Amino acid sequence: MSFLTIAETPTERLQALVDVGLAVKAAPNEYRTALDGRSVGLFFQKQSLRTWVSCDIATAELGAHPIVISNDQTGLGSREAPADVGRVLGRYLDALGMRVFDHANLTEIDDSTQIPLVNLLSDLEHPCQAVADMMTVAEHMPLSEATITYVGDGNNVCHSLMLAAVKLGSSIRVVAPSGYEPDAEVTQMARSIGEVTVTSDLAEGVAGTNVIYTDVWTSMGQEAEAKLRRRQFVDYQITPDLLEYADEDAIFMHCLPAHRGEEVSDEMMEHPRSMVFDQAENRLHSFKAVLLDELG
Ligand code: CP
Ligand code: NVA
Repeated sequence: MSFLTIAETPTERLQALVDVGLAVKAAPNEYRTALDGRSVGLFFQKQSLRTWVSCDIATAELGAHPIVISNDQTGLGSREAPADVGRVLGRYLDALGMRVFDHANLTEIDDSTQIPLVNLLSDLEHPCQAVADMMTVAEHMPLSEATITYVGDGNNVCHSLMLAAVKLGSSIRVVAPSGYEPDAEVTQMARSIGEVTVTSDLAEGVAGTNVIYTDVWTSMGQEAEAKLRRRQFVDYQITPDLLEYADEDAIFMHCLPAHRGEEVSDEMMEHPRSMVFDQAENRLHSFKAVLLDELG
């Protein structure tokens, strides 16, 4: 079964991904041969550090063979129709992860191929990131007691985090400047499941919260808007001063890459309550959980 969005993932499956991610992290050697003889493709239409490297290593550490496929070499949609790419790769691989600009490419490829497809980031969602994020929160507090505040652009990372939070029993607050709120359908779905606040008021959003989370103001593909966005988001930088308004044990999270001096200050990145590198590490363990769910 593919893993394209948190929206389409039942709560039990999502909870199992978080639980298995934590179990694999605790005892990695128990899973070294779990996927012996399998092959996993990792396709990238845009840049990556964490997803590329962690998914490659996770695949290898489960005994499977990873192959990274660059769009520069293969030309999704330019050299070959997405559906044909999916049909061909389905003849070689046991599972395929893809990072694309347009989520519609993922649904088209998923319809065209028999093998499970994993979303490694699209314009709509970043579901693998959300599994690692919820693992990270769970390492600090029970998810049912967590209030998570996402500050910044209502983007792909925000969407997956919102839906994962409410599905796993946490409350979610999104603080975004007017015009940059999360997608209305995603917000509506999240509201139908749990406690959701969307506001442009930073003080209201972070008051007493357990987690402050942010992402870049300008996502990949939006570079032409970077200057405008820097102006629109200027009041939304996460700093240690802001953390003072949160719960005394609150943690700071960021999916990375971070633009220090924009959405987050240097001091916040290096703060003792910054969990950003634990969070990045959890991408490795969580992708093992995803592959075990697909192929185990
Ligand atoms: N967080 C994340 O997906 O990082 P990369 O873009 O480096 O893969
Ligand atoms: N929102 C960012 C996340 C990168 C991991 C982007 O889409 O570029």
